[in-house]
Parts: sequence; structure tokens; C-alpha cells
Amino acid sequence: MAKVCILGGGFIGRFYAESLCGRRGKDEVKVIYARRKETAERFAKDYEVPFFTTDMEEAIVHPDAEFIVIGLPNNLHEEAVMLCVKHKKAVLCTKPLGRNATEALRMTLACEEAGIFAGYLEDLCYTPKFLKSLKSVQAGAIGRILWAKSRETHPGPHSDWFWDIEKAGGGAVLDLGCHCIEISRSFIGKDVLPVEVMCWADTQVKPIDAEDHAIGLVKYENGAIGQFEVSWTFRGGMDLRDEVMGTEGTIWLNSFLRTGFEMYTSGAGNAYVAEKAESTSGWQFPVGDEAHELGYPNMFNDMFDSFEKGISPRESFYDGYVVNAIIDAAYKSAKTKLWEPVVLPLWRGQTGLSKPSVYVDFDAQHWFIKEEILPNGDKKVILKNKETGIITEKVTRQD
Ligand SMILES: NC(=O)c1ccc[n+]([C@@H]2O[C@H](COP(=O)([O-])OP(=O)(O)OC[C@H]3O[C@@H](n4cnc5c(N)ncnc54)[C@H](O)[C@@H]3O)[C@@H](O)[C@H]2O)c1
Repeated sequence: MAKVCILGGGFIGRFYAESLCGRRGKDEVKVIYARRKETAERFAKDYEVPFFTTDMEEAIVHPDAEFIVIGLPNNLHEEAVMLCVKHKKAVLCTKPLGRNATEALRMTLACEEAGIFAGYLEDLCYTPKFLKSLKSVQAGAIGRILWAKSRETHPGPHSDWFWDIEKAGGGAVLDLGCHCIEISRSFIGKDVLPVEVMCWADTQVKPIDAEDHAIGLVKYENGAIGQFEVSWTFRGGMDLRDEVMGTEGTIWLNSFLRTGFEMYTSGAGNAYVAEKAESTSGWQFPVGDEAHELGYPNMFNDMFDSFEKGISPRESFYDGYVVNAIIDAAYKSAKTKLWEPVVLPLWRGQTGLSKPSVYVDFDAQHWFIKEEILPNGDKKVILKNKETGIITEKVTRQD
């Protein structure tokens, strides 16, 4: 049984508590810290948490606080992690790990030096669809990964601090891009070095200092490309979609809107439908088991199982730091309008990879380009002469 202390009684703290206590599981939330007494008290009542406080350190040192789960605004992650280091408590931190890679690296190294377990709560890398897709990718079902695109767009976050660039550390790229980058990175291979980033980011709608819309490309050392599309200005709910293209196949994932559950309502009832749903009348796209579809139970299972086995979880602080470094390069690129290098003072993956050759033998004289069955049934093969470079086609008639 894991005894959990949650720091932060807001949106994500409640999702985490739902995932931990809502399923007859053996894990228990024993301590809740929130900034305001009313929030802490209400949270404690809703989830039957025996101890609540408005003092963060008091929550962390509590004898029943075995795992500290950080669900605080981004500017408080480092402070909370350092308190866990001080008191040698296992720590699980929500995304993004830091406001930038410098903060994230400091947290990663401090936990490693203290010898404490440190898990990165990147839930979208634990959704049932993601885990199954990743298994297929790792089994080679779609060949070598060439392009992995991930999109998260919604009408904007639900609390004031997200919109304050100092507290949040960035805009849509940091808030949503962290998910997209880690999803693409996982499909491409987490041991493949991200080399450089090109990013367009702009503030198209909201009166804020950060970007509310961005698109970026992350180039990996093996020639693969990651793509993220993020927005705080998208209308129509929360759009979570991924696309993976390999030499042998393709995967399309849609995790939230229009996934097979559609409901029309006149507005009677006026209840919660799904995260970031914009209306409670008309056609609705509810999500059956939202916490599960968003990966939270699988994520906590991995964290606690890994702790018990003494191994690193699938998503560690180190992963959070790599994601932060990619985001730092994206912000730089949005300003310079150039490809910017990903600066990784600490890299534990492979190095020296290169793009695989595009030359596949057809016969002694030719490279193979492609083959296709035509509407009349003929088979056409397109080839390139190895010596002259001339491209020709060979047709095999079917009659
Ligand atoms: N899918 C996900 O993994 C996901 C989703 C949403 C949020 N998050 C992350 O969770 C963290 C918290 O986000 P949230 O949506 O729960 O925010 P929120 O505003 O809903 O809640 C934040 C909570 O932090 C506490 N708090 C303590 N000190 C505070 C301070 N100085 N200012 C404001 N709040 C303070 C309060 O209890 C507050 O309720 C962020 O890092 C965010 O990026 C992750």
C-alpha cells in the first residue's frame, strides 16, 4: 500500500486523488496540503484524507506521507522537490518538471544525489491507447519511425497563475507541448538524441505575455522528426491526437473528442461533461472513464510498482529534464526564427547515430523506389539505375 501526500488541492490534485482512491485500490491519500484552508478542508472531506494543512513542509514531514505528489503551480515545483530532498521522501512531480531545463536538471540531480525515488507524472505517456501503440511500435509493427506528431489544443487553462509567464514559465508550449514532446520522443525512442528545434509561436488571441498558439519540429539524431501542435485558443473542447508514421505502417490516435461516445442534450442537467468541454448543451463528446483514458491509474501503478522493485519508473525526472531542454530550444527558435540546438549538459542515451541509408537493392543494376498495383491490375515497380541515376518503371501485365 502506498501512503500518499498530495501537495496542491486544485485541478490536478483532485484528478490524482480520484485515480488513487476511486477504485478500491490499496493506495491511500493520507495528507493534503493546499494554500487555502478551505481548499485543503474540502479536499480532505471529499477524499476522506485524515490530515490537511496549509504548511507545505508540515505535509511533507508527516509520518504518513510516504510519497509526495506535487500538483502545484510550476513556479513551486522546485521548492517542493527540494523539501522532499531535505526530508528524503519519494517524490512524484506533475508536468512540466521545471519552468526550464536549468530548474529541471537541478531537481533531477538533487534527487539522485539524495538517493530518493523521483517520478515524472507524464500521464499522457500512460494512456491505454498510448501504451498499446508503443508496444506495437517497439515490436516493429510500423517499422522505423520517421515522424511522430502530437497535438494538444484547448480553450486555455483554468487558473490565473497559468496565464502569468513568471509563475508558469511559458505559455502553451510549456503547458501542453511538454506532453506532445514526450509522446513523440517515446515513439521515436527515448535513447535517441534530440538535436535541434524549429518553432513558430505567437500570441494570437489572449492578452498575455506568453504564446497562446505554437507549432514546432524536433529533429532527432537518427533522422526522425517530432512535431508538436499546441494551443490555448482552440475552440470546441480538448483535442488530443497523435500520428506516428513508420517505414512499415502508421498509427492514428484520438484520445478525447469523438472517440465513440456522442450525446445530444438540450442543456437540462447542466452537468460536467469532460475536461475543457465548452458547453453543456448541444452535441457533447463525453469520455467514459476520464481518469483512465488520460492515463492516471496506469501512471500511479507504474510509479508505485517501480518504487517497490527499486527501479526507475517509465517516466523519470531525467525525462522531464530532457523535455524541458527541448522546450527551451523551442522558445529560443521562436525568437530567432532559426533551428536551435537542444542543450543537454546531461545525456544518457545513444550518441553518434546517423540517418539510415535510403538505398535498397532491387537487383545488381537498380535501387528499389516503390511498387504499386494499378487500377487495371498491372503491377508497376519504380527503380533507379545504380550507375546512371536514371529512374525507370517496370510494368508486369496481369492479363
Ligand atoms: N495532465 C496533467 O498532467 C496536468 C493537468 C493539469 C495540471 N497539471 C499540472 O499540475 C500543476 C497544478 O495545476 P492545477 O491545474 O492543479 O492548478 P490549480 O490552480 O487548479 O491548483 C493549484 C493548487 O496549488 C495550490 N497552491 C499552493 N500555493 C499556491 C500558489 N502560490 N498559487 C496558486 N496555487 C497554489 C492550491 O492548493 C491550488 O489549488 C501544474 O504544474 C500543472 O502544469 C498537470
